[in-house]
Amino acid sequence: MKNRQRTNRSLSDHNSSRRGKKHKSLLQPLLLLLFSVALFYGAYYFFSDHLDGDEDALPEVIEEAPPESPEQVEETGLEDPEDLEPAPVQEQDDPDSADLSEPVAVELQVITDGDYLLALVTKETTLKSSYAPTNLVRISDYMFPARELWLREEAYRQLEQLWQAATDDGITLTIISAYRSYDYQKTLFQNYANSYGEEAANRFSARAGQSEHQLGTTVDFGGTAVDLKAAFADTEQGRWLADNAYQFGFAMSYPEGKEKITGYIFEPWHYRYIGLEAAAAWHEAGLSLKEFLQQKPQFFE
Ligand code: DAL
Ligand code: ZN
Repeated sequence: MKNRQRTNRSLSDHNSSRRGKKHKSLLQPLLLLLFSVALFYGAYYFFSDHLDGDEDALPEVIEEAPPESPEQVEETGLEDPEDLEPAPVQEQDDPDSADLSEPVAVELQVITDGDYLLALVTKETTLKSSYAPTNLVRISDYMFPARELWLREEAYRQLEQLWQAATDDGITLTIISAYRSYDYQKTLFQNYANSYGEEAANRFSARAGQSEHQLGTTVDFGGTAVDLKAAFADTEQGRWLADNAYQFGFAMSYPEGKEKITGYIFEPWHYRYIGLEAAAAWHEAGLSLKEFLQQKPQFFE
């Protein structure tokens, strides 16, 4: 009896060990298959994200700006913006043309006065390197500035109003960038050109003298998980700004689908203060800011 029991047990042990072996031999190819599928999809997503030739493939982390204040503007040594991919080496045919940050348009019109709230700042016009706004005030910490940031007083007073209204509506914003000096913009553009190539940089970053940030009236808003990306437009912050910023004198400079006109890709976070009346008229007109300002008196040297 005991022997029969032992024999039965050893038979059942034998069977379960065979089942185990059978499972193992099935498990290995299954795991290999799963691994291959994961590898295939991983590679597919990586290459479709990085190698597309369309606008979506442009670097989206832009305007990463190192510390700056009116006192610091002459300081050199800007860091490479964070999140930049390794910089491609740019071929330079002519060593004299290595400074990519200077405007290249043939007939640039020189803006007489950057203090004029409706000054047309585009790829065809330029602020002087000596132009810096007066009455810069420091943006308060409660607005979560990314660092010490500054804005012209009139624009800042309206930003305070905008902020309060946004807060009342349950919207929390941050300030990523505001005033930038000519020299700062020059280095910023040069960094982007070094990293992404001049042509790509030119679609999302202004050359020195051609950035509205030099006016001291322009703000890059953030506060979302998709700051400085087109997807910012679909956040509650982006939507709130698109609906309300004009009531405080701020216009979105680079709307969607207007790159051919503005020269820049969609920047739903970049707003320029142009005054309450002008912003209301701009909103009513439904034009890009560039088209709207082209209809206003402009003064060039
Ligand atoms: N990103 C805008 C075009 C600027 O650099 O001023
Ligand atoms: Zn901006």
